[in-house]
Amino acid sequence: MIQFQGSPALQTERLRLRKIQLADTEAMFQNWLSDDRVMRHLIKGPHDTMAQTKARAMEILSSYEEDTFCYWGMEEKRSGTLIGVIDLFAFDAATDHCEVGYCIGFDWWNNGYGSEALAAVLAFGFQEMQIHKISAAHNIDNPASGRIMQKVGMIQEGTVRAMIRNAAGEYKDCAIYGLLRETYDLHNK
Ligand SMILES: CC(C)(COP(=O)(O)OP(=O)(O)OC[C@H]1O[C@@H](n2cnc3c(N)ncnc32)[C@H](O)[C@@H]1OP(=O)(O)O)[C@@H](O)C(=O)NCCC(=O)NCCS
Repeated sequence: MIQFQGSPALQTERLRLRKIQLADTEAMFQNWLSDDRVMRHLIKGPHDTMAQTKARAMEILSSYEEDTFCYWGMEEKRSGTLIGVIDLFAFDAATDHCEVGYCIGFDWWNNGYGSEALAAVLAFGFQEMQIHKISAAHNIDNPASGRIMQKVGMIQEGTVRAMIRNAAGEYKDCAIYGLLRETYDLHNK
């Protein structure tokens, strides 16, 4: 059974993973939510106004009332800047399975932050929450996302055609990755 604990603060070498606050609205908007270079890889398109981002931040804040909500902001320790978000979602009680999603501002790409945050959230999911399997999917034209899954030991299980339709109305084929707790444990003793 999944041991839900909400979204406790987690530390990595260079990141503080912590709850989103209303005061993060501007950073969320400026650093990724308004940026098509980032948002074109996600199902929902970029935000046009900070009011949209504020509404999203308020939605996130109220979701923290449920201990099943696992959603962290990624704060760069060195600068104190909020550079992205990562979450566990789509929990399935029948199989103790969930999915992981993440997003980082363009200015911080290719510095190892995505892999660092993903490794920390997988560790929390498997070791503290007792999740049995964590999966993720990425558009096949977004190889950086697949690369970070590979870097943390997730295994590609297949490709699903037209798995999503993005905000521009384009269908995208997605690569599906997964990691079982037993495999994770083998490599992280
Ligand atoms: C996916 C994402 C989180 C990666 O974050 P990041 O901090 O740049 O990740 P890392 O720096 O840890 O690793 C990126 C890896 O992808 C590789 N990469 C980058 N662009 C690539 C490309 N076009 N083709 C192949 N590999 C690529 C990098 O070389 C690096 O691998 P390496 O360490 O072996 O060199 C970030 O690109 C992002 O937020 N993208 C937009 C949102 C998104 O795609 N979310 C996920 C949806 S499934």
